[in-house]
Amino acid sequence: MMFDNATLSLIAKALNTVGLFILAYGLSQRRRPRIHMPVMLTAFAIDVFNVILVEVLARSKEGKGAVEQATSVFTEGGTTLQYVHIGTSFLCIVGYVVAVITGTRLWRRGVGRTAHRVNAAAFIVTRLVSYVTSFWM
Ligand code: HEM
Repeated sequence: MMFDNATLSLIAKALNTVGLFILAYGLSQRRRPRIHMPVMLTAFAIDVFNVILVEVLARSKEGKGAVEQATSVFTEGGTTLQYVHIGTSFLCIVGYVVAVITGTRLWRRGVGRTAHRVNAAAFIVTRLVSYVTSFWM
């Protein structure tokens, strides 16, 4: 492995923070779709890459991947913080997918602004809660 676990963990936290700043910038550009769309897609790509990184990190640290550990929290029980972190992180991915679908429709056909906006509001809450709780994982 090129990096040790402590370094990988630090990189994951840094990327999580960078993703949040990119999202904030993308949100500030929500009236300028040509900027807003690629910026939000970049944040999506960074967050997906981070999920893969956390998966690799968990495997090398605990011999079990993050997804496998998350599943066992639901089947065998875990702390409230774990439930909240896993639940909101999963909802973030759902929120990104819904944002791409509703955003593309809004761009192409000019419809579904309310759907895109409501999803955005829910997404912002889940992304922030996932971010804060990640520091206890
Ligand atoms: C999670 C990521 C995203 C969030 C939180 C978000 C949030 C928002 C918000 C709050 C608005 C303003 C809506 C309004 O006018 O009230 C907006 C507008 C828009 N978004 Fe997104 N968005 C996201 C991702 C995307 C993606 C991936 C696309 C397209 C691929 C997209 C396309 C658009 C378009 C076309 C508009 C309308 C811009 C305009 O002409 O005013 N968004 N977005």
